[in-house]
Order: sequence, then C-alpha cells, then structure tokens
Amino acid sequence: MSFIQHDDRPDIFGESTPTEAVAEGEFGFQQPRHRVFPPIVIVAVTNVCDMACIHCAHPVIKKDRDYKATFMTPQTHSRIVEQTKPYRDQLWVFRYAADGESLLNPHFLDMVEETKAAGIGPVDLTTNAMSLTDEKMRRLLEAPVDIIDVSLDAYSKETYEKIRIRGKFEVVTSNLKRLVAMRDEIGAPTKIMTSIIQQKESLGEVAAFQQFWGEIVDEVLVRGLNTDLGIVNASETYFDDQIVRWPCPQFWKRVTINQHGEVRFCVEDWRNTGIVGNVEETTLAEIWQSSLYDEFRELHATGRWGDMTMCRGCQDWQHMRWDHGFEKAVARVLGTEAP
Ligand SMILES: C[S@@+](CC[C@H](N)C(=O)[O-])C[C@H]1O[C@@H](n2cnc3c(N)ncnc32)[C@H](O)[C@@H]1O
Ligand code: SF4
Repeated sequence: MSFIQHDDRPDIFGESTPTEAVAEGEFGFQQPRHRVFPPIVIVAVTNVCDMACIHCAHPVIKKDRDYKATFMTPQTHSRIVEQTKPYRDQLWVFRYAADGESLLNPHFLDMVEETKAAGIGPVDLTTNAMSLTDEKMRRLLEAPVDIIDVSLDAYSKETYEKIRIRGKFEVVTSNLKRLVAMRDEIGAPTKIMTSIIQQKESLGEVAAFQQFWGEIVDEVLVRGLNTDLGIVNASETYFDDQIVRWPCPQFWKRVTINQHGEVRFCVEDWRNTGIVGNVEETTLAEIWQSSLYDEFRELHATGRWGDMTMCRGCQDWQHMRWDHGFEKAVARVLGTEAP
C-alpha cells in the first residue's frame, strides 16, 4: 500500500491550534460498512471548462502558473471503476462533477458506460449542458445515467449570462427541455434535476426558478454559495459567525478523485493541497481505511480541525451539513430510502 504520509505532506498538517467547541449531534459513519468504503465518490474527469461562472473557482485556478488543461485517461477511470465495483451495493452516489465540464472529456461517454456496465450506481452527472448534443443525450439516457443534474443558476437570460459567463441561455435551456423530452420518448429511467446557487446576482429569482423548472424536471436544487476554500470571493454574509462548528462530514462520507487520479479529502480543494493518494498506486478502500484518514476524523471529531491547514480557515463546512447533503436529493429523486 502506498499513500501519502504526514511527513511527505507537511502542508496538510499545520501547527497545533487550540481545541474548539464541537456542535452537539451524531457524527460518524452512518453505517458500519462505510468505514470500509466511502458512500459518495466524486470523480473529476477534467479540469477544462467551456464556461467561466462568477461563483466558480475554475476561472481563477485557470490563471495559476501551474494550471494545465488535463483530461482523465480511460486507464485511470478504469482503475476507479475496478476499485469501486466491490462496494457498488453500498454507494449513495457515484458523481461526475468537480473541476470542469465532464462532457468535454473526449472519453466521457465511454467512461459512463463502463461505470454503469460494472453495476455501479446510482450515477450522477452534474453538467452545464452547453455541449449536450442529441447523440450525447441518447448515450447518457441509454447507459442509463441515473441522474443528470443541469446547473442553470438563474431564471432569466439576463441573470444567466451575468453569472454563467460564456454560457448561452437559449442553448442550455433548450438542451434541458430536450433532455426531458428524449428521456420520456425513449422511456429511460434517468431522473433530471436542475440547480441554482443562492448568490446576490440571482436572489430575486430563486422562487421563480423553483416554480418554473419544478414543473419540468424531477427536482430543483438550491445550493449555498461556497468560497472554495477562499478561491472565490463569496460574500461573508452567507456564513454565520455564531454557529458552533461541527466536524466536516466529508471525512465520513466522501472522497473526490481529480483528473490525475489523485484522491482529495475535500471536494473544494481545487488547488490539490490535500492529496492523500493516487488510484494508480493504491486503492480507494486502502486510502479510506488508512491511519491518515483516521487522524483527520479524530481531529475533526474533537474540535482540532485547526491542526489541518486547509480546514483551519475554512468557512465552507457550514454548507456541508450532516442532515442535508446531496445524497438526500439523490434519494428523494430516485424514490429510495434517504440515507
Ligand atoms: C463546479 S461545477 C462542475 C460541473 C459543471 N461544469 C457544471 O457547471 O455543472 C459543479 C456544481 O458546483 C456549483 N458550484 C460552482 N462553484 C460553486 C460555489 N462557489 N459554491 C457553490 N456551488 C458552486 C456549480 O454551479 C455546479 O452546479
Ligand atoms: S472543513 Fe473545509 S477544508 Fe476541511 S474538509 Fe471540510 S470543507 Fe474541506
């Protein structure tokens, strides 16, 4: 087994900081089997995007000196599938999202088909839907992807184009409607969701968005605005200074794998500061069961998150609630029992 040890990653652990109060609640693995493998796996098949949304870290990291446009290779993807397959019956969701637009990876549809053929699910694709051609829709629906989650982030064209820079409102909204129609035509079981982020540019539109799209798609999600660990200049008024902090649920619920096959403990870690291993060298299960991960859990469970450099200054934990994760929306839309 080879995963990154403390000494190799001094940037994960900083100086020891004072212990903080921990919110009251039940925190831990929801099921004993989750100790063996995370119930949520997030896969970023690229860090390339065709939009530059104002709330997103992508346009910022794209200007970093070491940014390099990368697509996950089919080999790396196969490693993830192989490593996930033995635990496929205990997943809450296997989600394609994160650092860019998955549909731009030239191998993406083959990847989705590989995942579904391995019996892994439910599979979610979160997409901006700009490049969703009829042929891609058909392959996604025939795979079948369990959930397609289209990010719109605005009700009106004017607001959409202020938020989703380079996005074309008519193209995306017509793709979303076409996707629903094609799903119904071919009788695919895929559930379709759309989402809006609560941010000042769209606050007046959230209710209209929910009402309009609520009649067309299966579920409308309203997301909180994160800072992506300070990369995005999100208004601090969206966070509450008075809340007693809770352990970050990510350590008990999910891993994120980037386009290089590197495993992150935090989905917000666009700059890959908290890498804990690589699926080319070890397995997701070994990483999840490692003493390093146990140390993360122990620090968070005891109010010592400040010893972890990324977690110390983080505000985004407030939007990662134990009782209100993406998995609840997945269960709701699929009509399965909520985890
Ligand atoms: C990072 S995007 C990647 C997938 C795809 N490119 C898309 O636009 O859906 C995944 C989701 O995260 C949302 N998102 C991006 N930045 C965010 C932020 N700062 N806070 C909350 N959600 C964010 C996006 O709007 C989108 O719904
Ligand atoms: S506390 Fe913040 S930095 Fe740490 S894992 Fe959670 S969201 Fe990421």
